[in-house]
Amino acid sequence: MIYLDACATAPLRPGVLQRMVEIQDQAWANPSSLHGFGLRASEALERSRAQIADKLNADFRDVVFTSGATESVHLALHGLAGLQSPGRLVISSVEHPAVSGAAHQLFRNGWEVVEWPVDQLGRIRLERLDELLSPPTRILSLVWGQGEIGTIQPLLSVAEACRRRGILIHTDASQVLSQGLPNWSQLPVDLMSASAHKCGGPRGIGLLLVRESLRCELKPLLSGGGQEAGLRSGTESVVLAAGMAAALAQIERCDPDQLAVAGNGIAELRNALRDRLLTDERLVVCGDPDQRLPHHLSLLVSDHNGQPVSGRQLVRSLDAQGLAVSSGSACSSGKDSDSSVLTAMGLPQTMRRSGVRLSLGPWISAGDLDGITERFFHGLEVENNS
Ligand SMILES: Cc1ncc(COP(=O)(O)O)c(C=O)c1O
Repeated sequence: MIYLDACATAPLRPGVLQRMVEIQDQAWANPSSLHGFGLRASEALERSRAQIADKLNADFRDVVFTSGATESVHLALHGLAGLQSPGRLVISSVEHPAVSGAAHQLFRNGWEVVEWPVDQLGRIRLERLDELLSPPTRILSLVWGQGEIGTIQPLLSVAEACRRRGILIHTDASQVLSQGLPNWSQLPVDLMSASAHKCGGPRGIGLLLVRESLRCELKPLLSGGGQEAGLRSGTESVVLAAGMAAALAQIERCDPDQLAVAGNGIAELRNALRDRLLTDERLVVCGDPDQRLPHHLSLLVSDHNGQPVSGRQLVRSLDAQGLAVSSGSACSSGKDSDSSVLTAMGLPQTMRRSGVRLSLGPWISAGDLDGITERFFHGLEVENNS
């Protein structure tokens, strides 16, 4: 099998499992306990926090551990909404369901929720900026790198516009951190969410970066023992935090403007794969061709007669050929329905189920490309003839 589904979950990076085993052995106790076992666990937890903060150029107090990006997003949006009376929340029309789901909950709590429309490449329509960032908008949540189509949003310019207008901004960076770590001290956003398992760390842990100005104010989702400076009660997983720190330690810092070419040459590899696959006229690239996550390739697929092919069925045919890919985002691939992202991009209805996503990681090399292309074409042929 060749694994091309890094955007769903990446395998553990080298040394991560070993580090987790070591920490589980040495620091297995409850980090809130006052005895020596507890202190050892607490020290290990804080060391992981400090390492992660250091990689992101953040204050260690800015790093809040959660169970993953879905929880981080909910803490960010509910936490911000809890600070004020209901107003307007703007999200893009291509958010992950974690964000649109949290926004929907806020809608039921009296918030007006407005979706920022995107163009055919999945980029938010910047000509709508003044209108959407006018009062009563109080919060903006914008996905940085879209998981299904790979498009990178113009986060920096939008975030600066939010700052000028006093609008709080959260970004979902779940698909970005695996490619390059932003410099948090220079990023004009208030809150940032991510998951470890997209970065070669373990599942079950993520982070929310929180600016100092919000730390004491953000409303927690969970009450209880007051861990994570009161922002996330529940006994912390020292071992998962260590795994996340060990994974992020292997990722380089990246200038946000360079995100599309970050990731140690992975964009060149992806481009080489894209060029091979595009020799078949049944395949077209979906999403922004240039401003896209460097490890991400999304394709719309049709048959010899130009009729769209079901992405889900193609995923099964490719699996039988030894290629693990995904149709759209992993979370929605269990459902046979139109992709909400492709719908928001204005694709004709017949094409909204014909997307497949190939996402690469450091385990793929140039030597794999022939095999991938061959298997892909073979799987497509089988699907066309079925
Ligand atoms: C952009 C984005 N946000 C949030 C998530 C949710 O991450 P998790 O399932 O780790 O909570 C994902 C996962 O695919 C994602 O791609």
